[in-house]
This record gives sequence, structure tokens and C-alpha cells, in this order.
Amino acid sequence: MGPGDLAGILRQLPVMHNPNVLVGITTSDDAGVYKLNETTALVQTVDFFTPIVDDPYLFGQIAAANSLSDIYAMGAMPLTALNLVAFPQGKLAGEVLLAILQGGRDKVAEAGAVIIGGHTIDDDEPKYGLAVTGITHPNKVWTNAGAQPGDALVLTKALGTGILASADRASLFPEGVAAAAASMAALNAVAAQIASDFSVHACTDITGFGLLGHVFEMAAGSNVSIVINSQALPLLPDAAEAAAMGLVPAGAYANRNYLQTVTFADSVKENIRDICFDPQTSGGLLFAVPGHQGEALAVALANAGLVDVNVIGQVTAQGEGDIYVR
Ligand code: CO
Ligand code: CO
Ligand code: CO
Repeated sequence: MGPGDLAGILRQLPVMHNPNVLVGITTSDDAGVYKLNETTALVQTVDFFTPIVDDPYLFGQIAAANSLSDIYAMGAMPLTALNLVAFPQGKLAGEVLLAILQGGRDKVAEAGAVIIGGHTIDDDEPKYGLAVTGITHPNKVWTNAGAQPGDALVLTKALGTGILASADRASLFPEGVAAAAASMAALNAVAAQIASDFSVHACTDITGFGLLGHVFEMAAGSNVSIVINSQALPLLPDAAEAAAMGLVPAGAYANRNYLQTVTFADSVKENIRDICFDPQTSGGLLFAVPGHQGEALAVALANAGLVDVNVIGQVTAQGEGDIYVR
């Protein structure tokens, strides 16, 4: 899915078929999965973007955490990564590039993976990200398409990074901006590790399509509907206030226009609705687990040090891809 025409252009290409492809480009999943043998599958993903924070080292960390996240969202373990770099040579100091790459390097090291190469081009605006390869067991792949009626939905990071990036550009809400940066730089490794002890039916990470965009992909892919409890959503500090001031990025409106299957209860305030559509960078994991495991998973994640975890909704049988926010 995706607002704009790019996704439509990509869809015009004929799909490549191969029996070893367990997860390919026909589903809106976080990464591709290729079965090597009976015990090992390759999990591969790539992502890069322009700076969303001023500090180049922090930008490198965030870009790497974001790229690694799609590996964790598939239930896999990252092994290797390749740097993708665009940099305005001669216009920005070489130290800036070094700091970006150092941030990426340190985050990949924290993930227990290793950078084994990359490619750099001269470009007007800096861009950075990584192509990451991980492995998992072919029978243990988490997709976004396995949610079942009765499942509880657990979210592992607070929402509002896009709104707080707008606040940052307006030099407002420094506390919330700092909290958003720390959240974006945090790996989803612990969340994935803890959840692997539970019966994960579906998983995805929350990124550019916002909470409800990714909830929609899970609901549509699983042929279910989803009810979100807006009161339970973990929010970054100042996010609600910034949204109420109108510091809402264009991408949130694009996500909102694209999603026609969302119904809000009258009681859900406009700024909370905006947060539901806010494009996230390096957002949390969203797990669908059997209803009776929801609270236990949230408690286990909190005990592991994740402070912004909550059970945020339930999966229901009615309809296909309908979302109700109460
Ligand atoms: Co993803
Ligand atoms: Co991605
Ligand atoms: Co090259």
C-alpha cells in the first residue's frame, strides 16, 4: 500500500516466482524471506532516508535502528549489513559523514551484527540507511498476516515521532523531541527476543504509514478487523500537545486520506486521531498474540526495561481490514 503513485508503478512489474520465496513483494511485509534449507531462511530488507535530527551521530544510530527493525519484525536475528550513503561531497564537512557512519556502526554492533560493505554516492542531500540480512527458522517467520480473532495487540514503543520532528523544526517541545530521538535510536531487539517466548500470530513494526496504516496491513492481510483502544496508546511526551497545536507532518494527512476503513468513536479527540496516522521512524513492534497472553507479554516487556509498552487493541472476526478506534 502507500499514498502516491510510486507503489502503483511498482505493481506494474510482473512478480517473480521461486519456490524458495517464503515472503516476497506481493504482501506488504517488513522484509523478504528466502528458504535456504530445512532449518535456515534468509531475511533481507533495505531502508534509507534523509536526516530527521540535526546530530549526525544520532541520525546514524536512528537510521540503523530503523533498518534493523524490519529484521526483528520478522522474528529474525540480524547477521550482516551494508551501508547505503548519499553525501554532498565538498558542501558538508567529512566529519559529518564520519559521525553518521559511526552512529550506524555502533548500532549495528549493539545488535550483534556486522557491517561488511556498502556504497556511497555524491548527492545534494545526505541520505543514510542499511541493507540488512538476517536468518531465522523457515517455520518461525513472523509475518503481518497471521492475526486471529480474539488476539490481543501489544505495541512496544510510544507514538508521535513524526509530530515531534515537526516540533523540532519549529524549535518547540525540546523534552518531547529528545524523548522521540531516544526512542527512534532504540533497537527492537529486546522486544523481539522477549516475544519469541510467546505465541506470536503476527508482527510488524510501526513506520511510515503510521499506527493505523500498519494496523490496516495486518488486518487486511489476516482477513480480520481490529479494534484500537485510543486510551491505551503509549504517547511520547508532548506529542498530544504538539498535535493539538497543528504540528502534524504532511505524511499523516496522506495516511489518513489513504485509509478509508477507519471509524473513530466520537469521543476520540482530533489530536489523538492525528497521532494514530502520524508516520513513525524506527517505531515499535506491534504483536498479535492470543488474547490471554496479551497482558503477560506486556508485563514481560516492561520487566525487560521497555517503558512504553501496552495492550492497545483486539482482533475481531467481523469484516476484512476494518479498523475501529474507540
Ligand atoms: Co517495517
Ligand atoms: Co522498511
Ligand atoms: Co559500489
